[in-house]
Amino acid sequence: MTAQDRLLADLTDRLKRRNSDGLLRMLALPAGIDVTSNDYLGYAQDSELALETADFVRRHGVGAGAARLLRGHLDWHAQGEADLAAFSQREAALLFSSGWSANTGLWPALATADDCVLSHSANHASIIDGLRLSKAHRAVFHDEDALLALLQVPRSGRVFVVVESVQSMSGQCTDLVAICRMASAHNAVVVVDEAHATGLYGPDGAGRVAELGLQDQVLCTLHTGGKALGVGGAWIAGPQVLISHLVNHARSFVYSTAVLPALVGGLQAVVRRLQKDAAAVADLHAKAEWLRTTLTIAGFDLDGSASCIVPVVLGAPERALAVAALLRADGFDVRAVRPPTVPQGTSRLRLVVRAPLTHDQLHRLAERVILHVKG
Ligand SMILES: Cc1ncc(COP(=O)(O)O)c(C=O)c1O
Repeated sequence: MTAQDRLLADLTDRLKRRNSDGLLRMLALPAGIDVTSNDYLGYAQDSELALETADFVRRHGVGAGAARLLRGHLDWHAQGEADLAAFSQREAALLFSSGWSANTGLWPALATADDCVLSHSANHASIIDGLRLSKAHRAVFHDEDALLALLQVPRSGRVFVVVESVQSMSGQCTDLVAICRMASAHNAVVVVDEAHATGLYGPDGAGRVAELGLQDQVLCTLHTGGKALGVGGAWIAGPQVLISHLVNHARSFVYSTAVLPALVGGLQAVVRRLQKDAAAVADLHAKAEWLRTTLTIAGFDLDGSASCIVPVVLGAPERALAVAALLRADGFDVRAVRPPTVPQGTSRLRLVVRAPLTHDQLHRLAERVILHVKG
């Protein structure tokens, strides 16, 4: 057996073990009504936005040709970032090719070996990996009491607190006012990942930090373009000096080809659209509230959701897989979310309320979930 054969046999065994634990992942094409994706407003398939983006590509080409610090920085990057900074209500913004690369670029550039980052236990894998890439000390908190205890520990370096404004797997809305108050009282710097809030909260979709007027108390916000905005990419918005620092030190920015015209043109088109879509966003939140209320009355554990992400916690991965399969048979594209994405024993259906869903579809979804889980 060659080394490569041995490796492949080992990988096969690992996949088999994952399968027998109910944790195997396989790519599956969309099938049925979308109650799963993060395309909350249906922008990803919007024909007007596609036309505006195509027009932008016709004018600016398909690629940037190089990293930004080489010859890849073009006037439409500068304009796009100025627009995104204004949208986020911050001084400056810097584009990245994804939220993943924004988080993994940010943390090693920001936090040094002398520093400590206090990170919420539900934070996304890209924050966790960004922190791992940094040399900073890390401590995880689950709630405000735990955060307070960590903030009270005397430390020699800087202290950062990082949270998501809307948690991606629970749908909980973080109490940003409390986080900022505690951080300020203990001289800590706050960073907020707005991945699941951008487009859905605050003025024209600027996010929850802008909605709550906390810009002065938050160093920077991280916005993804691939969720409610339906496009892709991400940007970090904050003070110009921070953005200049990231231009110099965020490795995923420095050593990566500049983001594509389609991404910048698409984001600009969506930002313009959001200025007209406030009623659609309000309607979406009302639909989400209806689903949460209905499932709560039916006795479900929704993990504290207060947003369009409505998780139905079922426990064992096999149970989540079985119920998701029944809902797919009913015509709803539901996927089971299992460890390590969520903690052991909390496998769930991660239902996402989206603007294109009709009231009839939403009612039928609730009815089928109740039927399949409660019998
Ligand atoms: C909170 C959070 N941050 C960052 C990301 C990564 O964003 P992207 O999909 O653009 O890489 C995600 C994606 O799910 C997320 O939920």
